[in-house]
Amino acid sequence: MVVPADCALHEAIQVSPLILSDDVRRQKIENHTAKMRLSVATVRKIQDVFISEVNKGIHQQPSSLQMENTYIPELLDRTEEGLYLALDLGGTNFRVVLLELAHGAPIRQEVKKYHIGSELRIGSAIPLFDFLAKCVSDFVIARGLQDVELPLGFTFSFPMIQHSLDVAVLVTWTKTFNCPDAVNKDVVKLLREALDRRADTKVKVVAVLNDTTGTLVQGSTLDPNVAIGLILGTGSNACYLERADRVEHWETERHGEKEVIIDIEWGAFGDNGVLDFIKTDFDRENDANSLIVNSFTFEKYISGKYLGEVVRVILARLTKEGLLFVGETTLHSLLTPGTLTTDLVSKIEQDSVDGGNSNTKEVIKKFGIIPDEDDIRVVQYVCEVASNRAALLVSICLAGLLDRIDKEQVAIAVDGSLYKHHPRLENWMKRYISLLTSGRQFKLILAEDGSGKGAALVAAIAQRLQERLQ
Ligand code: BGC
Repeated sequence: MVVPADCALHEAIQVSPLILSDDVRRQKIENHTAKMRLSVATVRKIQDVFISEVNKGIHQQPSSLQMENTYIPELLDRTEEGLYLALDLGGTNFRVVLLELAHGAPIRQEVKKYHIGSELRIGSAIPLFDFLAKCVSDFVIARGLQDVELPLGFTFSFPMIQHSLDVAVLVTWTKTFNCPDAVNKDVVKLLREALDRRADTKVKVVAVLNDTTGTLVQGSTLDPNVAIGLILGTGSNACYLERADRVEHWETERHGEKEVIIDIEWGAFGDNGVLDFIKTDFDRENDANSLIVNSFTFEKYISGKYLGEVVRVILARLTKEGLLFVGETTLHSLLTPGTLTTDLVSKIEQDSVDGGNSNTKEVIKKFGIIPDEDDIRVVQYVCEVASNRAALLVSICLAGLLDRIDKEQVAIAVDGSLYKHHPRLENWMKRYISLLTSGRQFKLILAEDGSGKGAALVAAIAQRLQERLQ
């Protein structure tokens, strides 16, 4: 039986029709990309699978979702005062942040960005952590704070198993990092040892957290209803406030906590095969071209590191099939993995919003190709199909979380380059989430710099929790 909600969803998830001068060509292109367009039945199936994986993860059963306890049981209570540091590793930039708090609110912030070269990102752990410690020292000493005991929140935006608020073992690297000898090690210990080797500051690492957690905490200063933190950037992940009595993995002593932030690590959703029914040949190729293959299935469908590559793989396939850029000979760049970055997809999508094609032409010309009108339409169509699938997949999971969180109103704090720069994701997500949740009220709020500012706020919360236990 077709329910009205499914009819509305079916309408909402349709992409713009592809209109080409040659109908046979249009049909073939639509056939090639058909599996990228999810049907309502598939959407419902993904929804069920996500909820089932969430439940298994939280109950410590085998699941592709880690559902990691962050050991952060409460947000700011406005008593937080003083200077806090944050170290942010795993986003577009590596940053050191100094935050001064009065009554739990930031009154001063200083930020410095550092570049981490690929020889450090892909190498061994000690040089990487020595570099992080050097940046912290330089930052602190430049401000004359070397003799001040500074609590530091370490945003480490990779999957980790947390044993407590300041003990976290790296599960795997993702995105653009791969220092294999850090895997299975406590990253807080690695950082503390690197700081101790220098011994030139009094920085004290008090908490380790994920960027989604920082975003949730930072978001809660903007809207008290924030209960979900989402990153849609180079990588993707979400965290949410879970009822403490539902959480089985809790290694430290409990103190009557009512809630706790759970880091889902949804980038790995489907790594156990539960999402194979949506995997296309394009996804297989995208995975094969990635830094760590056979991992982070879901992230490779949705995040900024991969969306451009998914589009490129589809365009390359259509070109090889003689359905795109017919007669073009300078195809080398298009056929090379990694050449079509996600910011270019956002640029092309802007044309679809404006009803123009100048951005699309400009992007295609960068590849040394002169497109005709039909080529432009195909490229725009593919960008829309891939972007729309990403929006839909993220929305399915967010709607699942909203239904799980027993609150009247929930604000979702979001950050990340893809969300900020893609011209259509936000609107699609608003529509899809409202059609997919069973009636929950929600809003999406931009909580910029959660991984920086949020980490300093978490350091302040950690300090408060420690003091309470003493
Ligand atoms: C990491 C997550 C992180 C996300 C967003 C993923 O690759 O595994 O820990 O939250 O990227 O930065």
